[in-house]
Amino acid sequence: MKQILKAAELTSAVNIARQEGKQIGLVPTMGALHEGHLSLIERALKENDLVVVSLFVNPIQFNNKEDLEKYPRTIEKDLELIKSLELKVKSEAKAKELLAFTPTVDEMYPDGEPKEVYHFGPVEEVMEGPRRPGHFSGVAVVVRRLFDLAQPHRAYFGEKDYQQIAVIRNLLEQIKYPIELVPCPIVRADDGLALSSRNMRLSPEARQMAPAINATLEQAAEMAEYEEVDDVKEWVLDTLASYHEVNDCPNGLCFEPEYFEIVDAITLQPIDDWDEAEEHGAVGCIAVWLDGVRLIDIVKF
Ligand code: PAF
Repeated sequence: MKQILKAAELTSAVNIARQEGKQIGLVPTMGALHEGHLSLIERALKENDLVVVSLFVNPIQFNNKEDLEKYPRTIEKDLELIKSLELKVKSEAKAKELLAFTPTVDEMYPDGEPKEVYHFGPVEEVMEGPRRPGHFSGVAVVVRRLFDLAQPHRAYFGEKDYQQIAVIRNLLEQIKYPIELVPCPIVRADDGLALSSRNMRLSPEARQMAPAINATLEQAAEMAEYEEVDDVKEWVLDTLASYHEVNDCPNGLCFEPEYFEIVDAITLQPIDDWDEAEEHGAVGCIAVWLDGVRLIDIVKF
């Protein structure tokens, strides 16, 4: 693995690789790597000749200053994790080269805060969109910049940020870059909690409670066999909101669900009836507050 700090150095490395006919995979991350990220990198290593992993906490996608400040930054540990993964998968990996791109904010945005704004229509008008104004535009700006610098054939994103994948799909249609979007399944802890960099901020007590989110979603998937969409939605929200009334939760902890929507897996438009999602399938997307940490998760129906 080679660490690259400069945009120009990254571009010249990928230009050479392109001239040699190599396939390039990009794994955009904000660092604070966990097994979920490593699964994306591992897949990219198997499917490409050169893999670029970007580690960059993108300030323009945070609409909450405190969230940006609190975002974990563990770059040395991240680089060690990538090196260990590279050694582990060496025999199976197709990729001969792994670049960890770790730019500063000035390197990424040399002309100051970017002015461009992206709109994605209906896919951003639901769930995270109205609750985090400007977030997806900020994601699109950095992802497009990474596409321009790394010129990948494939880009790998985790399905935990399910709406982000729909937004990137829309971005690729807008900018017409011939990049294959590769959505990758959520990686979970043994107790079912979806891995997330934000989990680091949970207190031990909250961490113990958090798997109830996935457990509730799994039960919802079973209910979907015989219940209406609205009933499943209501049940999920009620079950989590009243969790502390029926369980022994330490320190007055409780779940505060922000939303749970059941949507078409591609258009992300909420459905009222399971038949409406016949073509693409339905996905349940949830955001829940626990102990001051906002957790998101999904379930496929
Ligand atoms: O999913 C993330 O970690 C970020 O939104 C991304 C795609 C790396 C852009 O900053």
